[in-house]
Amino acid sequence: MPDSADHSDPSGSLQWPLPQPLPADEAPLRLAVMASGEGSNFEALVEACAAGHLHGRVVVLAVNRERCGARIRAERLGIPCQVIDHRRQPSREALDQALIALFRGHRVDLVVMAGWMRIVTPVLIEAFPERLLNIHPSLLPSFRGADGVEQALAAGVTLAGCTAHLVTPQVDAGRILVQAAVPVLAEDDRERLHARIQRQEHRILPLAVRLAAERLAAGPGPPAQG
Ligand code: GRF
Repeated sequence: MPDSADHSDPSGSLQWPLPQPLPADEAPLRLAVMASGEGSNFEALVEACAAGHLHGRVVVLAVNRERCGARIRAERLGIPCQVIDHRRQPSREALDQALIALFRGHRVDLVVMAGWMRIVTPVLIEAFPERLLNIHPSLLPSFRGADGVEQALAAGVTLAGCTAHLVTPQVDAGRILVQAAVPVLAEDDRERLHARIQRQEHRILPLAVRLAAERLAAGPGPPAQG
């Protein structure tokens, strides 16, 4: 069967615009994105801001590879991009310190890891508590870590998907903000399934950013029980 139809949102439950837009008089969120690859999620965030789906602005992109699609997209979109090559940093912590300096310099409210292929340390996580998000190509808590798409195919699941979540020191284990599911079709290979998942990533990531911002605005909740 040709894959031109959108099989990815059987519920149709995630719709723009959301019912209660953020108050327009609030300052737009200042967003940073970290990417290592193609940067399609980075571009989706920029587009969501431009379309008014997210009251924010991507003020800087950090990449760890000089030659990556995300950097080319940033040039086209006119977004400042900084290359911080991990191979030139003495440690993971030093890489994270360089990122923190970049983001503080741009007065960033929220940081989005969108295909950042390095493990971050508590140095970065603690600098942006509740403000560091990641997008992962599986329905967490299934298929954490590298290549969630391949893991889903190997496991023979019939539903795959993506998760936008807060980042904690344990990889792919922070609070889930938004998920979307897609069917796995018989003829799927990694590329086809990943493409279907990515269409959903581009939809849920702006929503997750907004939810994270709303959580911050609401302040700390009651202390955990037990
Ligand atoms: C996405 O599938 C994301 O879930 C994973 O890396 C991929 C990045 O894609 N963490 P892109 O660079 O945003 O196109």
